Amino acid sequence: MNISPEIIEDIKFRNNIENVVSSYITLKRAGSNFNGSCPFHSEKTPSFTVFPATQSFYCFGCGAGGDAITFVMRMENLDYISAIRLLASRSGINIPENISSNGKKEVGRQRILDMNKEAARFFRDALFDEKVGKIARDYLIEKRQLSPSVIKHFGLGYAPNNFGALHDHLKKAGYTDEEMVVGFLCGKGKNNSVYDYFRNRVMFPIIDVSGNIVAFGGRVMDNSEPKYLNTSDTPAFKKSKNLFALNYAKNHCENTMILCEGYMDVIALHSAGFENAVATLGTAITSEQARIFSRYTKKVVISYDSDQAGQRAADKAFRLLQEVGVDVKILKTEGAKDPDEFIKKFGKEKFSALIDNSKTRFEFETDKILAKYNINDMNEKIKASNELCAVIATYPSEIERELYIRKMSKIFELPTQSIQRDISAIIKRKNKSQKASLMNDVYRTRSGIGDRINPESASNLGANKKEEAIIGLMLLKDEHMKLGLEKLSTNDFVTSFCKRVFESISNIYKECGKFDIGYIQGDFTVDETARITKMLTERESLSINDTKTLEELISSLKEEKNKDDEDSFDSILKAIEKKKK
Ligand code: CTP
Ligand code: MN
Repeated sequence: MNISPEIIEDIKFRNNIENVVSSYITLKRAGSNFNGSCPFHSEKTPSFTVFPATQSFYCFGCGAGGDAITFVMRMENLDYISAIRLLASRSGINIPENISSNGKKEVGRQRILDMNKEAARFFRDALFDEKVGKIARDYLIEKRQLSPSVIKHFGLGYAPNNFGALHDHLKKAGYTDEEMVVGFLCGKGKNNSVYDYFRNRVMFPIIDVSGNIVAFGGRVMDNSEPKYLNTSDTPAFKKSKNLFALNYAKNHCENTMILCEGYMDVIALHSAGFENAVATLGTAITSEQARIFSRYTKKVVISYDSDQAGQRAADKAFRLLQEVGVDVKILKTEGAKDPDEFIKKFGKEKFSALIDNSKTRFEFETDKILAKYNINDMNEKIKASNELCAVIATYPSEIERELYIRKMSKIFELPTQSIQRDISAIIKRKNKSQKASLMNDVYRTRSGIGDRINPESASNLGANKKEEAIIGLMLLKDEHMKLGLEKLSTNDFVTSFCKRVFESISNIYKECGKFDIGYIQGDFTVDETARITKMLTERESLSINDTKTLEELISSLKEEKNKDDEDSFDSILKAIEKKKK
């Protein structure tokens, strides 16, 4: 890496983590730390914590952790160098241009944005080229009934049926093959040849709220597959963090936004005057996108396709949007497959009426269940009421649940008390299994592919859990620290990460006669520090933290070690030696 450690240190010194984080989210002081709602996953209770002492953050909900640089990387979807640049420019530090983490010239965000703009111009010119663009104009104007002004408003274009047209154009404009490949406009073929990625497709530029063209979607004009090609994530674009047409909708959405599935739906809605419509980009809605909604509007009307897939996708949209605190309703384009077709068939007034009559999640789910079951049949009634109870159980507010229970009681002609009891039972079961799955998550983050910090935990799950509990307890109380240091040695630990942690702790304790997470920083990366912090905080939240627990854990960890040893070649030899004596 070409940015010196001194510069990085300087940047971190001038960008303390509390300030960096609180420029994105609201933090509340909690003792010597700060708490807030995690910006990296949807949550109701704040589990995101900033530790000023270690200049690190950690989310107990999703496991995201790191320092100010990592935070900015995640938040702004930047690579390491770009995050450093951003923090540097915020604090007036100058960094030489054109360095990347491998020392090579790097394809930066701005370069890709400029190239995308050039590509969009090329696609637009192709669309309006008398000869080349005829097929696409016929498709958009004749077949899809878009007016030229709508086409221009959305910057639509046409990628010609040619493997090198865009490539040649961009090359003349000064862009390199590598930039085109990284920017996802070209693919790399055999012998390092480079070819246009989008061919013979109508092109939909995706524009962010600052007016940058960040990506493209390209649709075929017949029934061939794949129907759409989309830009994958690039240094300038992350699919899960953008919404199609938000650049326009953002000025029309104070009260309500309409969430559709497709680009064509959004374009049809905008041209019919519903300029508050947006779409996700070929994926189910993500929690990051849900958060975008909550930033721009109070209410979202889901307007997915009326097919089964669309209706099923609505469940997730309801859940994620509800979690970020926006009002959510849903409409169904009865008699048409999607909003685009609906408007063409029935007109915009009818669509307005759909919005006015859109349903709450409770109504939507109730209708779905009543359509599925005949509640005059006893068996079906039982199934139906079980399903509706499960829906009601998902509402966190007791008052809300109470209101729905009353409604359900009327529909099903059942006493509210029995409905209530069933729902309480469901909630209890759910809490229990949630706890179990939380434990599971902890296991998985410690074992899964994502565990860069302690890769050995995967093959030593049980032992690793004990190691971490022991370290956590030692960090918690001085008497535990003394006991641990007295009874354990580095070799009692199983994974090399925990060995390192223990070694470092005992060295520091010997030297200073006390211990604080802050002392350990030099020996560990911020991500590692975050993990060690987690061992401590995880213990803090438990009630059983006495010396006896620690003693049991210690002997149990030692047994774990013996278990391994029994099988090892060394220990077999040792056993033979013993017998000989
Ligand atoms: N999509 C995608 N890749 C596909 C199919 C769909 O990325 N192979 C995404 C696109 O963003 C598309 C959205 O999912 O806009 C909805 O898909 P669909 O309803 O099939 O497409 P529409 O855009 O509605 O196209 P049309 O109405 O013209 O069929
Ligand atoms: Mn569609």
